[in-house]
Amino acid sequence: TKSIRIAIMGAGTVGGGVYKLLQMRKSDMYQRVGADIEIAKILVKSIPETRKDVDASLLTENFDDIMNDDSIQLVVEVMGGIEPARTFILRCLNSGKSVVSANKDLIAVHGRELLDAAEANKVDFMFEASCAGGIPIIRPLKQCLIANEITEIMGIVNGTTNYILTKMAQEGMEFEEALAKATELGYAEADPTADVEGLDAGRKMAIMGSIGFHSRITFDDVYTEGITHITSKDIKYAKDMDCVIKLLGIARNTDNGVEVRVHPTLISKEHPLASVNDVFNAVFVHGDAVDDTMFYGRGAGEMPTASAVVGDVLEVARNIKGKCLGMFGCTCYRELPIKQIGD
Ligand code: NAP
Ligand code: HSE
Repeated sequence: TKSIRIAIMGAGTVGGGVYKLLQMRKSDMYQRVGADIEIAKILVKSIPETRKDVDASLLTENFDDIMNDDSIQLVVEVMGGIEPARTFILRCLNSGKSVVSANKDLIAVHGRELLDAAEANKVDFMFEASCAGGIPIIRPLKQCLIANEITEIMGIVNGTTNYILTKMAQEGMEFEEALAKATELGYAEADPTADVEGLDAGRKMAIMGSIGFHSRITFDDVYTEGITHITSKDIKYAKDMDCVIKLLGIARNTDNGVEVRVHPTLISKEHPLASVNDVFNAVFVHGDAVDDTMFYGRGAGEMPTASAVVGDVLEVARNIKGKCLGMFGCTCYRELPIKQIGD
């Protein structure tokens, strides 16, 4: 295989970054993966009259242009939302095309169905960018730390809310202004309610918990509380106590079951998470053999997210080239009791 043809579904913040990064690596792609990557089609909702950042001749509004092209072996889903993304991905997997997705809304609810379809069709389904933007965390959980019994995954996993809390604490910015800036910078979800109400972080915790605990946790199992009720007064009180307020995601696998939650938390200024600011995320993972590990980096935005998506694309390309499956051919999981929090 000299060249692997791919399609990108979605050309917004992330899709645009994926296109840009693939162009940046074009000249030495073969050296990296042993094959060139050729973008065959880019699906958008509506083709604008002028679009200069991507090759406009590749744009289509018709999913069948991708489905019916047998030369396309890999499809990148960066559209977002549940439908039509779920149907499009399933159709791709069922027709033998591997898929890379950044869609935590979808994976946190339908991940099992998508992984099963990938396994049944012996293709890859990868989703590194679905959790914590550019930070490598899915692959470490699934591969590097697989020998451990992981008991805790905890951290700051939403860039938008961390950006807002940082700006409110350090610059005295109002909530609405900070959210508008995060949106402008491409950090926020299409509907930022998902960020500020803790839903996005909850989805990521469900995905990481499922992978880390070899289990099946869906978004419904996660207790979520956002930051909309945090006022500048709360932030000042926290400061007076030498603390900061952070939106934390916590997944624990205890003897009494699995517990997954997201809520604002008061933490001491001395705590390592207190200095994770702006759009940065950090994830602690505790395993019985490795002890504590920490992963840190940009949790959202065009190029950091593209780094994770394109990393998956190249991994799948290697697998296609080597005629083998990646780690997500395996959908095994164990039933763990899940503790409901709140209500
Ligand atoms: P975005 O800027 O809103 O872009 C969405 C793109 O998908 C647009 O190009 C849109 O087409 C296209 N699209 C949407 N619905 C479609 C449909 N029904 N048919 C065809 N095309 C459709 O979103 P984004 O920020 O790039 O996020 C994309 C995905 O990545 C989401 O799942 C998000 O949760 C995830 N993600 C985002 C970030 C981040 O930092 N932004 C980080 C990690 C993961 P038009 O151009 O015609 O509108
Ligand atoms: N809206 C998300 C965030 C994008 O702010 O973290 C990255 O998943």
